Amino acid sequence: EQIKKGDFDHFMKKEIHEQPGSLTTSMRGRLKNGIVGLGGLKDHMRTIRRSRRIIFIGCGTSYHAALAARPIMEELTDVPVTMEIASDMLDRKALIFKEDTAVFVSQSGETADTLHALEYALENGALCLGVTNTVGSTLARKTHCGVHINAGCEIGVASTKAYTCQIVVMVMIALAIGSDKLSTLAKREAIIAGLTKLPEQVRDVLKLDGEMKVLAQSLIDEQSLLMFGRGNNYATALEGALKVKEVALMHSEGMLAGEMKHGPLALVDEHLPIIVIATQDDSFSKQQSVIQQLHARKGRLIVMCSKGDASLVCPDGRSRVIEVPQVADCLQPIINIIPLQLLAYHLTVLRGYDVDQPRNLAKSVTTQ
Ligand code: G6P
Repeated sequence: EQIKKGDFDHFMKKEIHEQPGSLTTSMRGRLKNGIVGLGGLKDHMRTIRRSRRIIFIGCGTSYHAALAARPIMEELTDVPVTMEIASDMLDRKALIFKEDTAVFVSQSGETADTLHALEYALENGALCLGVTNTVGSTLARKTHCGVHINAGCEIGVASTKAYTCQIVVMVMIALAIGSDKLSTLAKREAIIAGLTKLPEQVRDVLKLDGEMKVLAQSLIDEQSLLMFGRGNNYATALEGALKVKEVALMHSEGMLAGEMKHGPLALVDEHLPIIVIATQDDSFSKQQSVIQQLHARKGRLIVMCSKGDASLVCPDGRSRVIEVPQVADCLQPIINIIPLQLLAYHLTVLRGYDVDQPRNLAKSVTTQ
């Protein structure tokens, strides 16, 4: 086991640091001359483009990855995209039609809830597409078509590199579906250029490791940690909070910043730490006003912003700031989750909990 961990103390840390390489492998052979080629989808592309709706279905981190890819899927395909947590879809017997494309996202390809939802979608005649890390898994075998994420084996129970590779693969799926549209050509070209530079920028953001350890030290005795995001980075807030919950065993909630004034604002005081994700994209000015409102309530803020924006998000220098590289808006969740993965990792070690085998959790939940 020690050999497999190499120079790292834990698989989670190793897998966080493997992300530049795993993202490169996910994209390998799929981006040629500015065109995305996904062999596993090509025979079904016409049906996907004509579908009435795309439904993303998954559990846990895989659901969050789909949520992160939702805005770009809608923007590039012009097909409405809805989200389903697999168990909830089954509880509600949610409506699903043969004109739908159902995209099932699962690292293991063996999660019971996701597989039952797949059976249900197949019975209802939807086109079923799988996004998984596991070749030969039940999900890979039972879906009509799909894309492997090729993240490499993930051992830590808390998913890290599979999350970022799932997002990259779903961005590539959006690019492939939308590749017949002239109106979005410039946007698609910018994303493809961004994808080729992404592993380097991930390497850059991994340098925040030491800074995140210091931040973790300041949070070690907290009861709770909130994370506010919106738009492309709503998923980042949910996934960051899930990491803190599942490994550091600290209460943490990811929240939609637009909902702050409808309840969560009541929690704000000078003690409760709140991470606000405010990197550059169309939502930036709205996040700036969220920060102002939190400041007005004396909130204890940690603001994640694009490099060079510290004075914009924190003019009086009172908040802690995490600066990350700015990338294409749909790729920003890949960059932004990394400091939060590192924070969750260091919090866990400092609090003395088991990083790779958190209590009560399993890597793959094969019972309903
Ligand atoms: C378990 C794991 C999570 C994972 C979820 C979905 O709860 O602990 O890390 O996100 O299952 O797993 P999947 O293999 O379907 O992505």
